[in-house]
Amino acid sequence: MHLPVENQQPNWRDLDELADVVRALGSLPALVSPGDCDELRLRLAAVARGEAFLLQGGDCAELFAGPLIEPTQNKLRCLADMAAVLTSESGLPTLTLGRLAGQYAKPRSMGTETRGDRVVPVYRGDAVNELRFDAEARTANPQRLLAAYRAADRVLSDIRRLRTRNHTLFTDLGGDFFTSHEALLLPYESALTRVDPASGRTYGLSGHLLWIGERTRRLDGPHVAFAAGVHNPVAVKIGPTTTRTDIAELIELIDPHREPGRLTFITRLGADAVHDRLPPLVDEVITRDSPAIWVCDPMHGNTFATADGTKTRRFEAIRAEVRGFIEVHRAMGTHPGGLHLELTSRDVTECVDEHTPVRERDLHLRYETACDPRLNRGQGLELARSIAPLLRPSASSASSASGGELLRNAATLG
Ligand code: PEP
Ligand code: CO
Repeated sequence: MHLPVENQQPNWRDLDELADVVRALGSLPALVSPGDCDELRLRLAAVARGEAFLLQGGDCAELFAGPLIEPTQNKLRCLADMAAVLTSESGLPTLTLGRLAGQYAKPRSMGTETRGDRVVPVYRGDAVNELRFDAEARTANPQRLLAAYRAADRVLSDIRRLRTRNHTLFTDLGGDFFTSHEALLLPYESALTRVDPASGRTYGLSGHLLWIGERTRRLDGPHVAFAAGVHNPVAVKIGPTTTRTDIAELIELIDPHREPGRLTFITRLGADAVHDRLPPLVDEVITRDSPAIWVCDPMHGNTFATADGTKTRRFEAIRAEVRGFIEVHRAMGTHPGGLHLELTSRDVTECVDEHTPVRERDLHLRYETACDPRLNRGQGLELARSIAPLLRPSASSASSASGGELLRNAATLG
């Protein structure tokens, strides 16, 4: 029987085994250092001041191994090439942040997956179970948390190796590269939460920036409490049901001292909702005197299934949400701080795009994602090329509505 899950935590097959794994993780070295987390916070503070742009990207769900896994170098190259486009067109330096070296756990809207007459627990990311459609493979196995640690460690050592050997790549990345993932599995995140002896501060040392997902951002929930308790830069995903009160409370809980670089809101509202939903939330941040960074995730509010059930996103909707996001921030006088993308350097056919073209009937050709549909390299570069000019400070006056107008229009929506 499949029990309902609380706060998106898996039904681990054995809680004693989980406790043993957590103990083992607790005695392993931290994956990243407090100093590097502080360095990222400092770089993010420049984004908060409107002096830089953030490009955060990678797989929806990273895999531990297998033929579809991309070399770390290709992932970084793809982000570096997009950052180069953004920087040269916008005139702002681009800070790159990988959605990698830890993105192994997924929140899911359904507990089970059905094919024909077979029902098995849903895939929750490699840190929990296997993608293979099989009841045994889908059992939540605590040993996989240790495998997630080792997989993240391998990616981090790839990054360190590239830093010393591939100077061109690191120059294009802006000199440094940081990692991020959704802090979903609390036993794992807690086991890697450590007190820095030098400063006495507590850090989540599984990655540099940790974010809380749309499904686990309850104000009184354990994920927000975790984010509030670590000194890392943290982000919260913000969906279309987010209220002004949610924003106000998240600021008070996570960034009571209003420190630039500490808190990022990643909005994923959908292309159709961004103009109505975003202004009141931005206004709340202004009212609270918060330096929170605004980042646009144009992926998760624009997902739909084709007639045959394939999960996809339209490139045009993705671009439209980014444009809407920038327009709203221009009108409100706030900085459209960055992009959060699910993307791959592989030539996949996962997002529908009339230009490439990837038609709905082409999706099956190279549909490789373990979870959500990603932009391929060409689509990522096209997105960067087409939105970068809008980021030029001189593009500010191009918006059609003022912040006040946007807010009045949105007021009826509550
Ligand atoms: C994700 O980033 O893959 C995700 C699940 O996002 P959200 O929490 O915004 O739905
Ligand atoms: Co996703």
